Amino acid sequence: MMPALGNDRTETLRDALTRHLVAEGTIHDLDVAAAFRTVPRHLFIPHVPLEIAYADDVVLMKRNQAGVAISSVSQPSIVALMLEQAEIRPGDRVLEIGSGGYNAALLRELTGPEGSVTTIDIDADVTERARALLDQAGYDDVRVVQADGEYGVPEGAPYDRIVVTVTAWDVPTAWVDQLRPGGRIVVPLRVRGQTRSIAFDRVEGHLESRSTTLCGFVCMQGAGANYERLVPIAGDEVSVCFDEDQEIDAHPFDGVLDQPRHQTWSSVVVNREEPLLDLNLWLASTLPGYCVLSGERTGVTPTPRGGAAAVATRDSVAYLTCRRVRRTPSSFVELGISSHGPDGRDLADRMVDQLRIWDTHHRRGPGPAFQVHAVGDEPPPGFQIARRHSYITVSWAA
Ligand SMILES: C[S@@+](CC[C@H](N)C(=O)[O-])C[C@H]1O[C@@H](n2cnc3c(N)ncnc32)[C@H](O)[C@@H]1O
Repeated sequence: MMPALGNDRTETLRDALTRHLVAEGTIHDLDVAAAFRTVPRHLFIPHVPLEIAYADDVVLMKRNQAGVAISSVSQPSIVALMLEQAEIRPGDRVLEIGSGGYNAALLRELTGPEGSVTTIDIDADVTERARALLDQAGYDDVRVVQADGEYGVPEGAPYDRIVVTVTAWDVPTAWVDQLRPGGRIVVPLRVRGQTRSIAFDRVEGHLESRSTTLCGFVCMQGAGANYERLVPIAGDEVSVCFDEDQEIDAHPFDGVLDQPRHQTWSSVVVNREEPLLDLNLWLASTLPGYCVLSGERTGVTPTPRGGAAAVATRDSVAYLTCRRVRRTPSSFVELGISSHGPDGRDLADRMVDQLRIWDTHHRRGPGPAFQVHAVGDEPPPGFQIARRHSYITVSWAA
């Protein structure tokens, strides 16, 4: 493919962005690097200055009436990570779910003249813009479809690769059915309040994870939307978030934080920079009533951005916190649990037990593996999350 436009300035900026992504270890694949050097990102976001078009930043394109972001041109490093995960080869037939134009053009570079790219978006504004910008940039052979991506694009199936660029809570049956056996789907899957881009291979009708990486995307609209429930526990200030499949009985009442606080420490020390995503999923895998606490209130230990791992019953809540460790660099903290309510101490003890098990057996391990089986199939042993179309199984090797 050849981009329609290019000049020294944009080529220099593209080269600098690519070098940055290679230097920070995001891009390893030479073909992905070549695609980043070729596709003129600025043509897909013509309303922003060139410096912003070639910064490693997301560019917001649309908000809904409530002010929530619903469409964006994704951050180059996330795009690159997902392309690396997808391992696209010349000749591949690729379906992208969630359009914008830029990633579809990168995919078109990677699939080459023998391959094909179809991109689908639920929003007509997005598909109209993507169609026009892809044409202008010289990628007029990318197929753009306006419909709910929950159902895939059956006319183009089977696909060698499906790349989902919108946060999903489930893997709809259509996506698995439209993937060829041995094919790969890369999907930002949201499980218990955290989003990971997971590369799954289709193995005998189910999916097995090959790699995972932290990411963030706008949320799926349409038939696949709304799998989370926010429950206020201190008016508008603090809430806990549960997934759709969790027992409603576990919801604590609004006001639970007004009960006296109990504090327990675990002796587990971590560096503040250490990502605790796996710890949170370990707690979710092992503790009934797991939820994510977010918000701020005086007297409540500040919670990390993205929320704190928590466990709740009807009248109690316990949540992950930390404190500075004396005589160590300031970045080291000890993990502990704050709790409120009559079950608080018990919940805190159970969380601390699991913190220690994670520290001993999983903290330096390979992390969780994921499998996806259609509802009706026999899922393997492990922590099961029941979605509308599938069971997501999380398993841990020590
Ligand atoms: C992060 S943007 C996609 C970015 C794009 N791939 C790029 O090249 O930068 C996510 C898109 O997903 C779309 N979307 C949300 N729900 C969808 C659904 N059910 N089916 C298809 N697209 C959907 C939104 O309209 C939004 O444009």
